[in-house]
Amino acid sequence: MKKVGLVGWRGMVGSVLMERMQNENDFDNLDVTFFTTSQSGQLGPDFAGISKPLLDAKDLSALAKMDIILTCQGGEYTNAVYPHLKESGWNGYWIDAASSLRMKDDSIIVLDPVNKDVILQGLEQGVKTFVGGNCTVSLMLLALGGLFEQDLIEWVSPQTYQAASGSGARHMKELIKQMGEVHQSVADKLSDPQAAILEIDKIICETIKSDSLSTEQFKVPLAGSLIPWIDVPMPTGQSKEEWKAQVEANKILGSLKQPIPIDGLCVRIGAMRCHSQAMTIKLRENISVEKIESILADHNPWVNVIPNEREASSIDLTPVNVTGTLTIPVGRIRKLAMGPEYISAFTVGDQLLWGAAEPLRRMLRIIVE
Ligand code: HSE
Repeated sequence: MKKVGLVGWRGMVGSVLMERMQNENDFDNLDVTFFTTSQSGQLGPDFAGISKPLLDAKDLSALAKMDIILTCQGGEYTNAVYPHLKESGWNGYWIDAASSLRMKDDSIIVLDPVNKDVILQGLEQGVKTFVGGNCTVSLMLLALGGLFEQDLIEWVSPQTYQAASGSGARHMKELIKQMGEVHQSVADKLSDPQAAILEIDKIICETIKSDSLSTEQFKVPLAGSLIPWIDVPMPTGQSKEEWKAQVEANKILGSLKQPIPIDGLCVRIGAMRCHSQAMTIKLRENISVEKIESILADHNPWVNVIPNEREASSIDLTPVNVTGTLTIPVGRIRKLAMGPEYISAFTVGDQLLWGAAEPLRRMLRIIVE
């Protein structure tokens, strides 16, 4: 059995990964060691059937005994450990949720329903570093996989509606806190049927803008508002989240030499853990909506084409419907007024499952099997 070291298994993405690995019986075929950055020596979890003491995640000699290391610990950990482990001569597989190594020449971004060929070719050529993609990129590629596979897309402009979970667990809690504070400020008035809505709205606005609203994590209000900027600025005027779309998607697709333009605005909204994206797509040719829908539906088992109808869209194509599932609904597919090659599409995906944990879990399986 392959020796697998797990790092960052207790965090939000790590916990989702552990749950998925238990559900899929992944632990049955692995000799797992749990590492920790803060509690070495304490008894580890018994996901794999037995509890062993946790090992120090910075102990290079302990890490070097592993055939595979899978980390959800974050970019700082990767930067602090990975180069030294490689320099020490370790030649095992490194599977990583963090973005630090994504664009390195010797790494592959993993999303096997879309790029299994790239992954298998990489394994054959001795690639050892496999990194999960940015969540919006992975979710978009799963939704539009069929059109990309058949090289039918000339360009895409995704406008995102990204959940609080993309910023982290503390941010999710802060969003709920903000919602509570906003509600609290008018709770008495809401129970009075005579209360005037403009008066309620005025109090809500004051609450959202006031210094007392909890904004330690987001720095600005998210509840009752939105944040049209995610991550640091790039020289292009894009946010880093926006910059990632084209470079990462084309790396996954193996088309970096002739990249498909993918660019749009990334916006944080008050959803919990599902990212949504409204996409404007320029196709290479005029294809009927029915044909587009069947190409998308046939691509992978998780994509679910939702008819462009009011009720189905309002129920099925929403964060609240998708949360906690691996389903990738894609809908609102119609021709746009710009011309017959221009279509719209809207998709939703769980940011912690297909957006983070699932591609890593599947990569581990690909290596082991
Ligand atoms: N960067 C993403 C976000 C999550 O902020 O929503 C991680 O891929």
